[in-house]
Amino acid sequence: MFSHSVRAALLLSALSSSSLGALLQSADDAADQLTSTHYDYIIVGAGAAGGALANRLTEDGSTKVLLIEAGSSDYNNTNIEVPWLAPVLTHSQFDWNYTTTPQEGLDNRSIAYARGKVLGGSTSINYMIYTRAAQDDWNRFASVTGDDGWNWSNILSYAKKLEAFQNSPNVQNATSKFVANIHGTNGPVGAGLPQVSLPIDQIGLNAQQELSSEFKYNQDVNSGNMIGFSWTPFAIQDGARSNSARDYIQPALGRSNLDVLVNTQVTKVLQTGTDGNTPIVNAVQFTSGPNEKLYNLTANKEVILSAGSIGTPQILLLSGIGPADQAKSLGIQSIVDLPDVGQNMQDHPLLTTNFQVSSNDTLDNLSLNTTFQAEQLALWTNNRTGDFTLGACNQWAWQRLADDDPIFKNVSDPSAGPTSPHFQLIFSDLFIAFSGGAFPSGHFLTLISNLYTPTTRGSLTLNSTDPFTYPIINPGLLNDENGFDIYTMRQALKAGRRFLAANAWKDWIISEFGESANATSDADIDAYIRKNALVVNHVSGTVAMGKSGDSSKGAGALNPDLSVKGVKGLRVVDASAFPHIPAAHTMVPTYILAERAADLIKNSNSTASGSKSGSGNGAFTPSATLVSVFAPLVALVALLL
Ligand SMILES: Cc1cc2nc3c(=O)[nH]c(=O)nc-3n(C[C@H](O)[C@H](O)[C@H](O)COP(=O)(O)OP(=O)(O)OC[C@H]3O[C@@H](n4cnc5c(N)ncnc54)[C@H](O)[C@@H]3O)c2cc1C
Ligand SMILES: *[C@@H]1O[C@H](CO)[C@@H](O)[C@H](O)[C@H]1NC(C)=O
Ligand SMILES: *[C@@H]1O[C@H](CO)[C@@H](O)[C@H](O)[C@H]1NC(C)=O
Ligand SMILES: *[C@@H]1O[C@H](CO)[C@@H](O)[C@H](O)[C@H]1NC(C)=O
Ligand SMILES: *[C@@H]1O[C@H](CO)[C@@H](O)[C@H](O)[C@H]1NC(C)=O
Ligand SMILES: *[C@@H]1O[C@H](CO)[C@@H](O)[C@H](O)[C@H]1NC(C)=O
Ligand SMILES: *[C@@H]1O[C@H](CO)[C@@H](O)[C@H](O)[C@H]1NC(C)=O
Ligand SMILES: *[C@@H]1O[C@H](CO)[C@@H](O)[C@H](O)[C@H]1NC(C)=O
Ligand SMILES: *[C@@H]1O[C@H](CO)[C@@H](O)[C@H](O)[C@H]1NC(C)=O
Ligand SMILES: *[C@@H]1O[C@H](CO)[C@@H](O)[C@H](O)[C@H]1NC(C)=O
Ligand SMILES: *[C@@H]1O[C@H](CO)[C@@H](O)[C@H](O)[C@H]1NC(C)=O
Ligand SMILES: *[C@@H]1O[C@H](CO)[C@@H](O)[C@H](O)[C@H]1NC(C)=O
Ligand SMILES: *[C@@H]1O[C@H](CO)[C@@H](O)[C@H](O)[C@H]1NC(C)=O
Repeated sequence: MFSHSVRAALLLSALSSSSLGALLQSADDAADQLTSTHYDYIIVGAGAAGGALANRLTEDGSTKVLLIEAGSSDYNNTNIEVPWLAPVLTHSQFDWNYTTTPQEGLDNRSIAYARGKVLGGSTSINYMIYTRAAQDDWNRFASVTGDDGWNWSNILSYAKKLEAFQNSPNVQNATSKFVANIHGTNGPVGAGLPQVSLPIDQIGLNAQQELSSEFKYNQDVNSGNMIGFSWTPFAIQDGARSNSARDYIQPALGRSNLDVLVNTQVTKVLQTGTDGNTPIVNAVQFTSGPNEKLYNLTANKEVILSAGSIGTPQILLLSGIGPADQAKSLGIQSIVDLPDVGQNMQDHPLLTTNFQVSSNDTLDNLSLNTTFQAEQLALWTNNRTGDFTLGACNQWAWQRLADDDPIFKNVSDPSAGPTSPHFQLIFSDLFIAFSGGAFPSGHFLTLISNLYTPTTRGSLTLNSTDPFTYPIINPGLLNDENGFDIYTMRQALKAGRRFLAANAWKDWIISEFGESANATSDADIDAYIRKNALVVNHVSGTVAMGKSGDSSKGAGALNPDLSVKGVKGLRVVDASAFPHIPAAHTMVPTYILAERAADLIKNSNSTASGSKSGSGNGAFTPSATLVSVFAPLVALVALLL
């Protein structure tokens, strides 16, 4: 069944020795090698979680691992490496280009839903913001699952273990911007503070001091308490993007016990036998593309799904692991009835508003002034310094509604606790509009106000049994019946406007700009939000963990050790496992989850293998509309390549 055409594929040049692991570019070319190797673990998806797991599980030289990724191995692409170019990665070859169903809470708009498709997954296309989430979020995971191992005190050791926090000499006044002893410096994942100081930094600090009763200074957003105004850490190291490909996968490729197969999509997981009455599901089916050959491969121990909050539930549903009624209606043979697979989807709604400023010293110059742009680009290329090392902001505030806010008369507080925010305010030194459209020329500050405790839950369902037809993605944004989500979005915008109305800004900000400027009444603000809100791209929760055993609706699809309920030999390790979306950017929480999962897997005694078995095919139907953020940067890509 496997072809004999093993061209020496495009192995990494350093990997010609048979004692090293391999980067395999094609399932067809590598078929012989794959079937003649006995893999203990097959990991599906090389994103935040899959990369971390592949590295940690191969630390033991006797454990053989195969990592399978649908995207390419091109994580060294310049657009991925240069932090400032993050916006051009959305709707690029590295984005799956999903779209949502029409969102009733967003005036029935369907919005673009980015996900990374390349080694590193979404960590290769994201905005690199580095947050661990608050201690209350982790402690809630411990109580929801009944497993203390998910609590903050246990998790903090993993948060430090994975981190290489860099105190760059370029960061001015660094000691007041983070707390050194809560960070790790020897881990794989590079992180640090912005290297370039902006004129608005001092103004922002002054505004915080002026309004300090509402906006407390928080010296480190990653201390376990996120609340207040703070400096923004990024997964940026020596001026370049850190991602799971560069930090976890590349270093492990030197090991003989790791093979990485790219350009290959897993279409389902397969039952290989039973243990008593329990199905053993420790095999995968994969292919190079629609209408290409399908291969089956069984793991000695486990298959681990790390395909992310879209890919993982899609694979499970295609395999008959999910709501049995849905499987039946599509003619899929059900392996186990798990009603929570694909349910419980959450994301963070995002809103931008722009303010015209009087200064001409803003990051808008990177697109307005081509001489300046070329100078900064040269700094990055020659020295990994300058404005191209920056992320979207240097400062932000994470805020809570007051405990006695009137909304809590009708709605119980969805937040995990007092260290965890309801909303986030980002202050960016240029014009940003994630929806694209015409970009005004001039100098701006952008306020991005985002909801971090959504009460709504959406879903992912199959549209077709064809693995290449995109699933139906409905995050249910702002579709809350209790009114909490739209209310808190409105309060966030109002809080951002209060911050920017501080005296400290009076010589900088002229006025709010464009359509939002007229939105002053509550009704007009809500209309502006529904017409314009997008997402921060943190989709979570679609295969949530819960207490052990009980697989009824709402009890979770995973046990606390991330094994799939009702089967053996199968685990899910990625952002779909979060029972509540963390009130933070989700990359670092996913790294932390994977770091602990690696220990759980190492300490467990996994199942025996079963037999091998394949089928299913169809047409690829991408659907997308072009969205760009920093419009003039699209032209810049040409400059770099
Ligand atoms: C545009 C954008 C901006 C973001 N900004 C930030 C930020 O600034 N900070 C932050 O903390 N978080 C950010 N995030 C979110 C963060 O990147 C994700 O939460 C995190 O990467 C999730 O990790 P994961 O392992 O669950 O999935 P991913 O990292 O998405 O990895 C999943 C991998 O599985 C692969 N895959 C999927 N299906 C299959 C299949 N069938 N077969 C084989 N492979 C498959 C995918 O190609 C991908 O490589 C952003 C995300 C996006 C998209
Ligand atoms: C990426 O770049 C690193 C460092 O230059 C190199 O070692 C590695 O082989 C490259 N990886 C790929 C897949 O090109
Ligand atoms: C996503 O869309 C862009 C723009 O249309 C396209 O260039 C890219 O190839 C698409 N990505 C994938 C993975 O198909
Ligand atoms: C959105 O669509 C639904 C269902 O088609 C409809 O009932 C509703 O009125 C629409 N809402 C808006 C704001 O158009
Ligand atoms: C957190 O979990 C660890 C064990 O994993 C336990 O020792 C500790 O007491 C727990 N701490 C709290 C605050 O619950
Ligand atoms: C530097 O830190 C001090 C407190 O240690 C603070 O008062 C001052 O405003 C900071 N300045 C900048 C530019 O960060
Ligand atoms: C910025 O504005 C100042 C005063 O308003 C002016 O003197 C200066 O030339 C401007 N600089 C640039 C780079 O446009
Ligand atoms: C453009 O940038 C160059 C180099 O930094 C600077 O000398 C020049 O004054 C800028 N021009 C304008 C119009 O801002
Ligand atoms: C290169 O960066 C270093 C700091 O990392 C800085 O000291 C040096 O001046 C820079 N060199 C150039 C040519 O910009
Ligand atoms: C389901 O697939 C069909 C055919 O590909 C497509 O026309 C339709 O829009 C899809 N439905 C959803 C909700 O994505
Ligand atoms: C805001 O309202 C004023 C007065 O009604 C109007 O002249 C202006 O065009 C509006 N601006 C925008 C951006 O809608
Ligand atoms: C694994 O097996 C060992 C010895 O067979 C046993 O002592 C241990 O309790 C088992 N661990 C788990 C998690 O089942
Ligand atoms: C792969 O597994 C499926 C499902 O068990 C089976 O129908 C198919 O025949 C197998 N394909 C091969 C090539 O073994």
